[in-house]
Amino acid sequence: MRRAVCPGSFDPVTNGHVDVITRAAALYDELVVAVLVNPGKAGLFTVEERMELLRDALSGLPSVTVDSFQGLLVDYCRTNGIPVIVKGLRAVSDFEYELQMAQMNRELAGIETLFVPTAPQVGHLSSSLVKQIATFGGDVSSLVPEAVHERLLAHREQGT
Ligand code: PNS
Repeated sequence: MRRAVCPGSFDPVTNGHVDVITRAAALYDELVVAVLVNPGKAGLFTVEERMELLRDALSGLPSVTVDSFQGLLVDYCRTNGIPVIVKGLRAVSDFEYELQMAQMNRELAGIETLFVPTAPQVGHLSSSLVKQIATFGGDVSSLVPEAVHERLLAHREQGT
């Protein structure tokens, strides 16, 4: 059984994440999408909301499950018997930090990292930009799954 984890903040999931997850799911028998619980950083969405939005966006992928984790990613991998981390790469600017983390995770626990280059149509997407655009009333409907778009509109209406 080939298993991998796709970790991230997913605050919120974008079409870029969905692209990488969909393509990674085709390479493994089981893919766990793991949301980082970061007590030091409150996001726009709670971890539970992020997981719910991920489950909704990924409901067509039966081999994908959604979970959350706290602490070191390699500890989560070891506890759950997952030998591979999958990360998306949008641009060369992503690579430097991602390479550092990949090398560190391999040194810490022998966990390998697989990089998936994002599709060019979604290479410019980031959760931060999507939130910024939505906050100022821009149209993000083509950038995020429908349920995320609805939640972002609700946040804007509530002024949060
Ligand atoms: O979506 P993000 O914010 O780019 O995801 C970053 C994430 C969650 C993959 C990274 O911050 C992470 O792995 N955090 C867990 C803590 C950890 O393992 N740190 C050591 C990395 S070498």
